[in-house]
Amino acid sequence: MNDPTIHWPPSDALVPRHVAIIMDGNGRWAKQRGLPRTFGHSSGARQVKDLINHCADSGVAFLTLFAFSSENWKRPAEEVSSLMSLFVLYLEKEIRAMRMEGVRLRVIGDISRFDSRLRNLIADAQRETADNKRITVTVAANYGGRWDMVEAVRRWQQAHPGQSALDLSEDDLAPYLSTAHAPDPDLLIRTGGESRISNFLLWQLAYAELYFSDVLWPDFSIQEMNKAMAWFADKDRRFGAVSDRVAS
Ligand code: FPP
Repeated sequence: MNDPTIHWPPSDALVPRHVAIIMDGNGRWAKQRGLPRTFGHSSGARQVKDLINHCADSGVAFLTLFAFSSENWKRPAEEVSSLMSLFVLYLEKEIRAMRMEGVRLRVIGDISRFDSRLRNLIADAQRETADNKRITVTVAANYGGRWDMVEAVRRWQQAHPGQSALDLSEDDLAPYLSTAHAPDPDLLIRTGGESRISNFLLWQLAYAELYFSDVLWPDFSIQEMNKAMAWFADKDRRFGAVSDRVAS
């Protein structure tokens, strides 16, 4: 009872509308226990469901998770294939629960490299949860922030044939980013002790608060999440302007 993060958020807390997470540290978590890296990923996947529900219950409307980066293809084939299988298993197992629990699922990234079974599962999960309103969970899979921006320019050009990119404004481009269904993240969490963005949501994180935790992802509990949200609630967000507290 002495730890306020256990009963977070208090009713007057500033809750981030959109939380983005780089789930790092699965491999080290497994290594510390003398287990193969893939055990770390499956333990990490088990954390996800509780966190989704906790975020929804706390008032977070959008949660975006970095599951597989464009660079992750460089990992040993066995690890890549186990991550893909985990993704398939997760979708097969959780799609019904997501539908019942009001979770809308979106997947962003270049999924053209995934096999057809996974691509079909993604399409089914997105379609079946499309009308859910409690929380939108976006999984970034084979995603890279630079890819997202180049892709947005290409899609804008396709929609505006003959128009020069010299006419392009930030507001024109934003609807073509893969995250157009969500506002920009307010809070980015990276677990696992590194303080890098690693090509995640480069455009969208422009004004996000960045929270780095040493905790390895499979140990990132609801209490750790509350700590991050309590840290966020203390921030004075100015978006480049003068503080409200000073201005008023
Ligand atoms: C980084 O840890 C984590 C990943 C590359 C994969 C994250 C995937 C999951 C948590 C499971 C699947 C998620 C969903 C949404 C079903 P790392 O391997 O880089 O760890 P290390 O830095 O300790 O080596």
